[in-house]
Amino acid sequence: MPLQEAMQTQRAIRRLKPDPVDDEVLLRCIELALKAPTGSNAQNWAWIVVRDPEVKRKLARFYRQAWSIYGSLGRRRVGSDAKMLRVIDAVQWQVDHFEEVPVLVVPCLRGLAPRFFSVFPTGGSSHYGSIYPAIQNFLLACRAEGLGAALTTLPLWSVFQARRALGLPLNVQPCAVIPVGWPKGRYGPTTRKPVEKVVHYDRWGNRKPKA
Ligand SMILES: Cc1cc2nc3c(=O)[nH]c(=O)nc-3n(C[C@H](O)[C@H](O)[C@H](O)COP(=O)(O)O)c2cc1C
Repeated sequence: MPLQEAMQTQRAIRRLKPDPVDDEVLLRCIELALKAPTGSNAQNWAWIVVRDPEVKRKLARFYRQAWSIYGSLGRRRVGSDAKMLRVIDAVQWQVDHFEEVPVLVVPCLRGLAPRFFSVFPTGGSSHYGSIYPAIQNFLLACRAEGLGAALTTLPLWSVFQARRALGLPLNVQPCAVIPVGWPKGRYGPTTRKPVEKVVHYDRWGNRKPKA
């Protein structure tokens, strides 16, 4: 698939079929994820592939706990905005069917805790910057394989509990949970802000490049 087409149509696919996803295709996607950069080329990631129903059940429970608060606040905030209500319904579906998703992929960072990094001005950016490029690569690779995937962080609201459920040592931080499966629906296109609304030239507020 042409890269531009994958980028234009990759979106959060939350409604997934329960059909299995083979390791072969999944490892191909993780291998492509690993082409991403990391700070100092440390490659300090770990990817947990979760198929065990007991572990999925625990992550589903954490997701429901967080969504019970976040989701009801979200419903109140979006009011009658039909588009946002559709997103909330899709998340609700995902939360309700989390155990049935064939595989959950949990990208993690190994090494020093984020608290250590936060003493440096760009610490947080450098720390998480070593996992999010790989996560986006993974999402694009899933798109190219015809798999549905969606980035979630709410199941990790309690890193302590998530770490216990996944058996992670203290120096491994789970950063996201990505449910992966064959999509029930279709891909994008996605709706995003127009580029001219977000670009500034040289200094904040200059909306046009110097002639
Ligand atoms: C840091 C981060 C955390 C996210 N956490 C969640 C989550 O917990 N649950 C969820 O359903 N989507 C989550 N998302 C997905 C966003 O809601 C989604 O990317 C956004 O709505 C755009 O969706 P689209 O690509 O389908 O247009 C998260 C995205 C990011 C970048």
